[in-house]
Amino acid sequence: MPLMTRRKLMFAATGVAAAALAPRIAVAQAPTAPAPAAGPFKQDPLPYANNALEPHIDARTMEIHHDRHHAAYVNNLNTIAKDNPKIAQAPIQDVLAKLGELPEAIRTPVRNNLGGHTNHTMFWQIMGAGGGKPSGDLAAAIDRDLGGLEKFQNEFNGAGTRVFGSGWVFVLVTRDGKLSLESRPNQDSPLMDGKRVLMGNDVWEHAYYLTYQNRRPDYLKAWWNVVNWNKVAERYAAAKAGTLTI
Ligand SMILES: [Fe+2]
Repeated sequence: MPLMTRRKLMFAATGVAAAALAPRIAVAQAPTAPAPAAGPFKQDPLPYANNALEPHIDARTMEIHHDRHHAAYVNNLNTIAKDNPKIAQAPIQDVLAKLGELPEAIRTPVRNNLGGHTNHTMFWQIMGAGGGKPSGDLAAAIDRDLGGLEKFQNEFNGAGTRVFGSGWVFVLVTRDGKLSLESRPNQDSPLMDGKRVLMGNDVWEHAYYLTYQNRRPDYLKAWWNVVNWNKVAERYAAAKAGTLTI
């Protein structure tokens, strides 16, 4: 074969090889988070940087947790809302409190995804760098209803450890400011029973596995370092004013 022809063939082959590789390169460079589905449900950005809670919660966990797990719940809700727009036309707490009124086919998906959306929205809010301790009215309520901060934290951690599989541990608050602990499986929310959540911790493995693996009790213990007590106090005041929603 003449030299030029062989060169042309090699060039052509290289081009073919590059073209064959192109889609794979494109996939590798594509954003890892799913594109948000258009619709009425929106996800707020994290109110701090992904690495703000280190070393207690690592940046990669925060990124995956917020941008993929929570985002998936929001995307799923927007998909459900296409054929069932009513789920977005009432406040979240009202939809969750009246799941039984939804068509049976979407009842469980709404329970899981709207529960997941509201649980995570609360969760991002009540964390932040800094730590500290509760004060004022909130500290007084913890002393009165939960036996003081140390006893409260121990019992909360115990409840979180005892959740079998995935779920949440919450502090509930009544309109008159009374506090109590409650755990729930999966993405169930106390809002389903018309209750209000003061704060809560996510004990799904996705919340802690990269740093803590199977050591959920270590995660529960470390998590107190990233509780934003000012935000919890704001939610406590809102509960007593009757304006706490999700
Ligand atoms: Fe989660």
